Parts: sequence; structure tokens; C-alpha cells
Amino acid sequence: MHIIVGITGGIAAYKTPELVRLLVKAGHEVRCAVTEHALQFTTRATLETVSSNPLYSDLFAGNDHGTEHISLKDWADWMIVAPATANCIGKMANGIADDALSTLLLAMPTQRVLLAPAMNSQMWNHPSVQHNLEVLHQWGVHTVGPESGVLACGTDGIGRMAEPVAIADKIRDLAASSTTITPQRRLANQRWLVTAGPTYERIDSVRFIGNYSSGKMGYALAEALAKAGAEVELVSGPTALGDIDSPNVNITRIESAREMYAAATRLFPSCHGAILSAAVADYRPESTADHKLKKQGDKGMTLHLVQNPDILATLGSMKGTGQTLVGFALETDNEMANATGKLQRKHLDYIVMNSLRDAGAGFGFDTNKVSIIAADGQITESPLLSKKEIAELIINTVTN
Ligand code: PMT
Repeated sequence: MHIIVGITGGIAAYKTPELVRLLVKAGHEVRCAVTEHALQFTTRATLETVSSNPLYSDLFAGNDHGTEHISLKDWADWMIVAPATANCIGKMANGIADDALSTLLLAMPTQRVLLAPAMNSQMWNHPSVQHNLEVLHQWGVHTVGPESGVLACGTDGIGRMAEPVAIADKIRDLAASSTTITPQRRLANQRWLVTAGPTYERIDSVRFIGNYSSGKMGYALAEALAKAGAEVELVSGPTALGDIDSPNVNITRIESAREMYAAATRLFPSCHGAILSAAVADYRPESTADHKLKKQGDKGMTLHLVQNPDILATLGSMKGTGQTLVGFALETDNEMANATGKLQRKHLDYIVMNSLRDAGAGFGFDTNKVSIIAADGQITESPLLSKKEIAELIINTVTN
């Protein structure tokens, strides 16, 4: 499972690295998130070492959109907060998100949160803390502890954080009995290949043959697959798009059709499926000059082109049992017949047809309109939607 361990500012935070160690030992991938005060009781270096992942502590560090809490929430199956202070519990119960951890906590579905409260007995027994916990329980938040014993302040009473082993056991039991994970992460343990963007076929050292693909459709597909829990291998042609903010997406950047072919044929055998949305150049110049070609007086210029390998058709011939292969068809006329022809010739399970005759569909737009044609002839039509929504529709259709 993917587990976020949140740590707030209580003395029990010194025990949390042991919890992280137990979770990692049990085979989980763990990312830690802290409040500023938590780092008074434990250290960044300790948490990063035991989790083998960078610490999440600042809403805006390294990400000027401040959206890491959303990608982390999409990545995680569960979030544990240990210790959870009275302040953290109060903020969650009252919808306050004023730092990295509390923002992440509000972004998580409540049924996937486990709190391990820890505080002084009088604080624990305070009506406001008990009221906040009652509210959180009603919303489906889980808790473990606190236990009784000697507290940091020297008094004896309730308020000690549950032991790391008890917290690890609780999350194991919750996960075993949970029905909340499946819909969010139904592609967990699957690996998918996506191609995106254009290819550039070099003419000389400064010119190329390319096309208008922006990569938006392919990147939206990669994000939607990652959100559904899959590990994604995204093979991308040159685009203006930055990296996808998800630890589940691995990007291989290529330039030409032959480079895309090499990457896709290497990656496909280890994947459950592939969605090829790239606009691959069918032809490339027979030869490439390693210098800038000069004008030849008033004469025209002839460029001799040779055919590129067809990546989709090759994957169709490689396809093994249990693998799903999805192609795209960008058409301008006779759309359904052309797309169905490609589906059959290239041995696909589905083809996604988009037509340049539909306003707002195809190259460059943030929107698209598609017909998803299955090998058995079933057709799913979409209205004009954002490429993000189209990606979700495609993934729901081809993985069900
Ligand atoms: O990137 P955007 O700006 O968001 O635009 C998205 C898109 C319009 C590029 C996308 O929705 C789309 O239609 N992609 C396929 C474009 C295309 O090249 O279609 P095609 O009909 O020529 O190719 C059919 C299929 O074969 C495609 O899956 C293509 O990736 C694949 N192909 C084509 C040629 C080749 N040599 N190898 C291939 O794998």
C-alpha cells in the first residue's frame, strides 16, 4: 500500500520513525509529511532515511502551484497522523488547512485517515477535544489510542500515543476490512504505457518535419491512469508540457518516431496495457544533414521521405494474453470507417477516434470529443469535454 505518515508537534514524534520503519518492513511505500513543530521532536534526515522518500513539509516548496497535497492524496491509500495533537484534531474537525500537513489531511477521504492522538490527560479530556473527535468519528475518521501511562509532563494518566507496533497493526486491520480503496486505486499493481505528443523527424541541424500535437491528450491519460493507481510509463515527443507531478509517472522523452518505437517496444512487454495517443510522423527524410542546408539558387528542393515503423501495429503483433492495446485515430473524413479499419488491421482492443471536423477536438485544444470503438463493435460516444474528462472516460471504458 501507499501510506502517508503525518507527524505533528508532540513529544511522541520521536517514536514515529519506528512506525515508518515497521510499515516499510511490512512492504508498504511510505511518504512522510510534517508540521513545522514536528521537526522540534524528530528530524528531516531521520524521516527521509527510514522512508527512502523526500519529506513533505512546505506547501509551496519546489512546486509553484502548491498542488503537491493533491498529487500525494491521489498517490496514497491511507494517511496516518502520529502523533496527532489536539491542535491537529481541532483543525481537521473545523476545516482549517493552513500548512502542508493540515491541507493534505483535508484533501484525503476521511475514511482513509487514521489518527493516533497524543497529549496531556487534561487536554485529552477537554470537551472541545472530545467533541472534535466525535465529529471526526462521525465522518469516518479512524483513531488508535491514546493509552494510559506516564506522560511527558511527569503525570500519570491517559494521553500516551499508541505504540508504533499497535498503529501498524491497526492500519493492517483497517486495510484488510476496507472497501474504500478499490474504487480509487483499482489499477494498483498495474503498469501502463502511454505515448504522447508529436515526433520530430530531422531534415538538417535546424529543421524538422513535425505536427501540431501538444501532448495534452497523452499527458491527461497518464495522469488519469496514475490517479487510478497504475504505474505509468509515458513516452513523450517534444512538448511544452512540464513533468507530471506524480511519483507514479515515469517519463521517457524522445524526439523521433524511431526513438518512440524503441522505447515503446522495450516497455510494452512489462505492461498490462498501452494507450498510443502520440501523433507519430509516418515518414522521415531518407537522410539527415548534420549542418544547415543552404538555399540552392532559385531551384526548388526535393526531400525524399521513407516510411517510419508503425509503433501501434508492432505492439498489436506483440500483444500477449491479458494485455490491452488502445490506439487513437485522428480523422478528417469517413471517420468511423477509417478508425475501424485501423482497429482491425493493427489488432487493437479499442480505438479512440477524434475528428478534426468537430470544433474544439484534436490538436492543441484543452478539450476533445471522441468515439471509443471496441473490437466487439461497441461504441462509446462523448460530448465535447476537457481532455482530463476524456482521459477518465477512456480509462474507465478500456479497463472495465
Ligand atoms: O496532443 P494533443 O494536442 O492533445 O492532440 C491529441 C491528438 C489529436 C494528437 C490525439 O487525440 C490523437 O488523435 N492522436 C493520434 C494522432 C495520429 O497520429 O493518428 P493516426 O490516425 O495517424 O494514427 C493512428 C494510431 O497509430 C495512433 O494511435 C498513433 O499513435 C499510431 N501510430 C501512427 C503512426 C506510426 N508510425 N506509429 C503509430 O504508432
